[in-house]
Amino acid sequence: MRPSVAILGAGSMGEILAEGLVRAGWALDQLVMAARRPERAKEAERHTGITVLLDPGEAASGRDVVVIAVKPKDVPALLDQIREVIAPPQLLISLAAGVPLSVFEEAFPGVAVVRSMPNTPAAVDEGMTAYCGGAHTDPAALERAASVLAAVGETINLSEDLLDAVTAVSGTGPAYVFLLAEALTEAAIREGLPHHAAEKLVDQTLRGAGILLAGSEKSAFRLRAEVTSPGGTTAAAMHTLENGGFRALIEDAVRAAASRSRELGMEAAGHSKEA
Ligand SMILES: NC(=O)c1ccc[n+]([C@@H]2O[C@H](COP(=O)([O-])OP(=O)(O)OC[C@H]3O[C@@H](n4cnc5c(N)ncnc54)[C@H](OP(=O)(O)O)[C@@H]3O)[C@@H](O)[C@H]2O)c1
Repeated sequence: MRPSVAILGAGSMGEILAEGLVRAGWALDQLVMAARRPERAKEAERHTGITVLLDPGEAASGRDVVVIAVKPKDVPALLDQIREVIAPPQLLISLAAGVPLSVFEEAFPGVAVVRSMPNTPAAVDEGMTAYCGGAHTDPAALERAASVLAAVGETINLSEDLLDAVTAVSGTGPAYVFLLAEALTEAAIREGLPHHAAEKLVDQTLRGAGILLAGSEKSAFRLRAEVTSPGGTTAAAMHTLENGGFRALIEDAVRAAASRSRELGMEAAGHSKEA
């Protein structure tokens, strides 16, 4: 039986998850969302077909699963709004980047909490979500969380100390790919390709390479070696990227994102202690 789900925060991720749950077979009356502005509530209701309330406490009350889908900075205020209505056996799933399980466990003693990090390809059911369970999360609760998160793609259970790294890799990851797409498209146009052709070549190449990589037993290194012949065109391109510090830049970018994730988490944890 599918659990009823309340999604608190009807923004990008909230809507993506809501739409994914509907596509996965959740009935509209098993789902509810909460927004904080009437305009956003109306818009989200129009996009998803799901009832969107302006009171997160009312939305969360009596639901099997409550998803926290607000920005990390808004978590403390939201927790105050739902403090009175959350109790076992409800399951709380947080999507908030960097916010530790302890923030939720202190706010809701004894409640099963799952912290997760999805990404935006969830919008096309190709998401990658890592999740971890807290002190009161038994295997059944973890499975229930995975069943909700798997509505929009692949899932992986990891320990909490790895989630800032996950945020930096797969949470932020689509942006790295989009930046590569932008740069490659601009370079294609500079090489004389018409705009529409450049976009088509780049988009389909990224899609094809992604599907090949995900579906292949071979590593990225192996697949790259196979298209790189000595003295060839790919070798010339790889040489330029390596010499320009491509790898080191990616490493720095991932480190910066992981460190920002930790900072956001500490800010949220600090605020919730002050509140
Ligand atoms: N987007 C991503 O790629 C991504 C990936 C992984 C994880 N996440 C996580 O997902 C969470 C949501 O991110 P997002 O990109 O979806 O942000 P977003 O588009 O800003 O959505 C958050 C929504 O929550 C609403 N909200 C804030 N406080 C509320 C409250 N007390 N009650 C009801 N609604 C409230 C906001 O209202 P307003 O419209 O008034 O601001 C906003 O519409 C974040 O914690 C983020 O770390 C996002």
